[in-house]
Amino acid sequence: MTAGKDERLLGLPAGDLTVTVGVGPRLVQAVDPHLPGAKDLPPAAREAIAPADRGGDLLLQLCAGDPLVPPIAAAALLATPGVRERWRQSGARGPHIPVSDGQTAPRNVLGFVDGIVGPRTPAEQQRDLWLAGPAPVAGGTIAVVRRMVLDVARFAALPVAEQEAVFGRRRDTGVPLSGGSIADGPELGAKTPDGRYLVPAGAHVRRAHANVVGAGLMLRRSYSMDAPAPGLLFVSFQNDLHTFTATLASMEAADALLPFTTTTASGTFLVLPGFDERRPLGSILFPS
Ligand code: HEM
Repeated sequence: MTAGKDERLLGLPAGDLTVTVGVGPRLVQAVDPHLPGAKDLPPAAREAIAPADRGGDLLLQLCAGDPLVPPIAAAALLATPGVRERWRQSGARGPHIPVSDGQTAPRNVLGFVDGIVGPRTPAEQQRDLWLAGPAPVAGGTIAVVRRMVLDVARFAALPVAEQEAVFGRRRDTGVPLSGGSIADGPELGAKTPDGRYLVPAGAHVRRAHANVVGAGLMLRRSYSMDAPAPGLLFVSFQNDLHTFTATLASMEAADALLPFTTTTASGTFLVLPGFDERRPLGSILFPS
């Protein structure tokens, strides 16, 4: 379907359509309860999740530059016998803001550039993003998907300096409050002459910082949404679920952003390793 013209796309060109497929903890557990991806997310603070909007056996992440393509491709894939839709969420990414050579990030629905810090170098991606093993999952990764409704009105009513203190970066440029350029990480030890942290104690970039959490980096690729309510469809990829759960726990302790959020859908999925002609998608984890 992604390769070019496909009857099921109703005459539309596939363009840059991608389909990322993951399987939920129940199916991974059935193969081996010790595999990465077998563990589900524990409950967290500020959740209001209907049972049907939690978890699931299959993740289909459809992305395309043409907003018409994902719903058509989704309808085609959902016509697969045995597949039943549990929950869905659509979202969009705004215009690309240049971050560094070959890296861009969009703004989110609170106006801040989102998706700057993450595993960028091949060494970081090897260490924190891709699963090196065991064999049935090697080359895959763990996705976390959270629909996070945001109190945009309350946030927008804050003076810009207070908005920036919530995140720890400048709203217009994306530069950390400790200085530098947009591509730089925050310097968490930097202080004003009178001894206050430039990046406040409750700033999101401090509470979520890998060194503060004591976990690895996650590749965050989130989508802003407008319906059913304004917010962020948070998506992260990491090779250890603990990276996500430990980061969220650190945020729950003191993050100034968290009180603006209510999570209304959630799931974690093992993103399957890639495929070729000899080994169809999923055949390594589920040999026939
Ligand atoms: C609606 C909710 C959220 C919003 C609007 C949001 C937004 C942002 C923004 C604007 C940044 C700073 C720029 C950047 O590095 O991309 C950031 C950084 C970050 N966020 Fe979030 N975020 C949200 C939820 C989360 C959650 C749930 C997690 C993980 C549990 C998370 C993890 C991170 C991490 C790891 C960083 C990088 C921190 C650093 O090292 O500087 N965020 N987020």
